[in-house]
Amino acid sequence: MNIIEVKGVKRTFNLGEVEVQALKGIDLEVKKGEFLVILGPSGSGKTTLLNCLGGIDTPTSGSIVVEGKDIVGFKEGKLSTYRRDTVGWIFQFFNLIPSLTSAENVALTLEMAHDRKDMMKRAREALDLVGIPDKANMFPSQLSGGEQQRVAIARALVKNPKIVLADEPTGNLDWVTGTRIAKLMRDLNKREGTTFVVVSHDISITGVADRVIHLRDGRISEDEEATLEAKKVMSE
Ligand SMILES: Nc1ncnc2c1ncn2[C@@H]1O[C@H](COP(=O)(O)OP(=O)(O)O)[C@@H](O)[C@H]1O
Ligand SMILES: [Mg+2]
Repeated sequence: MNIIEVKGVKRTFNLGEVEVQALKGIDLEVKKGEFLVILGPSGSGKTTLLNCLGGIDTPTSGSIVVEGKDIVGFKEGKLSTYRRDTVGWIFQFFNLIPSLTSAENVALTLEMAHDRKDMMKRAREALDLVGIPDKANMFPSQLSGGEQQRVAIARALVKNPKIVLADEPTGNLDWVTGTRIAKLMRDLNKREGTTFVVVSHDISITGVADRVIHLRDGRISEDEEATLEAKKVMSE
């Protein structure tokens, strides 16, 4: 069963005289529970595609059907509910709030969703899930990059979203830490059944994927050879 069906999605940015076609017609299906990796060089449209999937940006044309409903047609109220309840985000630079502890950073997501029941307990459980229960009372500046990304993953998962969107989640980590984070995401994907769409230019992430597709210049190309090459590098 497909949880996401993208059809003919284009996104054009008008910058006065100049027009940038960030997405030039994307067709993409994501299965429920799948761990999909979209590889592409800088500027290929990865962030734009994720933003459209997450309801942060709106395609210029095309449809994005999530669980049978086209989110492109959603009015603001429905769209903000979708953003809040269906999607969890993981970013390259973690985006944690420096003045809040790990547990508070995670709990903030629940606070903002007005879902305050057992908030701190659930935040601690999420930190347990990502392997850092002992870091609950520490501030981001007291944590390593890998630990900060674990907090960010806990924050994305604490609401039990159906879909996690990750934008270069290993991009700011060394290779060993990045590989651990990739494996953690894969583990959570299997354990929780959460669908993951991960965009990256880092091939090490492809080692854990169910499927890898490639984005080049706003278009998708299935590229078996590049995938096999990436898997080979990973297993060495
Ligand atoms: N808000 C925006 N306004 C204008 N151009 C944008 C905007 N967002 C992205 N772009 C352009 O769209 C293209 C794709 O960008 P992006 O999706 O960020 O690529 P990636 O994440 O793969 O590096 C780039 O040429 C970028 O400059
Ligand atoms: Mg990007």
